[in-house]
Amino acid sequence: MLNIGLLLIATNRYYEYALDLIQSADTYFLPQHNVSYFLFTNREFPANLTNRKIVCTPIEHKPWPWMTLGRYHIFSQYKQIFKDMNYLFYCDADMRFVGDVGEEILSDLVATQHPGYCGTRGTPETNIASLAYIPPDQPMQYFAGGFNGGSVDHYLSMAQKLSTNIDKDYHNHIIAIWHDESHMNKYFAYNAPTKILSPSYCYGENMNLPYSAKIIALNKNHQYMRT
Ligand code: GAL
Repeated sequence: MLNIGLLLIATNRYYEYALDLIQSADTYFLPQHNVSYFLFTNREFPANLTNRKIVCTPIEHKPWPWMTLGRYHIFSQYKQIFKDMNYLFYCDADMRFVGDVGEEILSDLVATQHPGYCGTRGTPETNIASLAYIPPDQPMQYFAGGFNGGSVDHYLSMAQKLSTNIDKDYHNHIIAIWHDESHMNKYFAYNAPTKILSPSYCYGENMNLPYSAKIIALNKNHQYMRT
């Protein structure tokens, strides 16, 4: 049995989503394996939420877009808590598992095709001053930031690189167009994922895609959620 960490960031209103997400993950996310939930939150989670282990790390909420942009910083900062894990996966709190997600996702560096831009270049950063910039002649396809993962060493080394690049951009007063997702796409353009998951693993709610939904990205009121 493998030790697999599911990383969730759930401050303020994302807390409510994370409760349901965890219960859906109990059913569908690698049910045969030893999954621990690593929750980064400013709330208290109910003790009886799940039979699986929950590791709660208190973090402060910061205004939009810092909670999304800062995710890799958080993972790098707390990397010691993952030392017993074999694999780590990150999932946005406002997603829901609705189909079996099993060993097919286990690989060193795992990316998920963006449901809106499957197999295309999507919306990479075009500001040459940003470290997320991808030149037009660099082969790439666009991945969604909402679900990714890998073996602990590979994932944490990506997290460290993205955190450094995001911090450097910030010091130059730059926030990439799609925040952490832009930096992740830059990384994958130069460090090919060892496993590419279809949009089944980031299926936009109400989208009509030629894939079966396994993880749904829920519709949300962005204004409400960002407070
Ligand atoms: C949107 C999605 C954003 C971002 C963007 C990239 O559909 O909601 O989170 O991924 O596409 O263009």
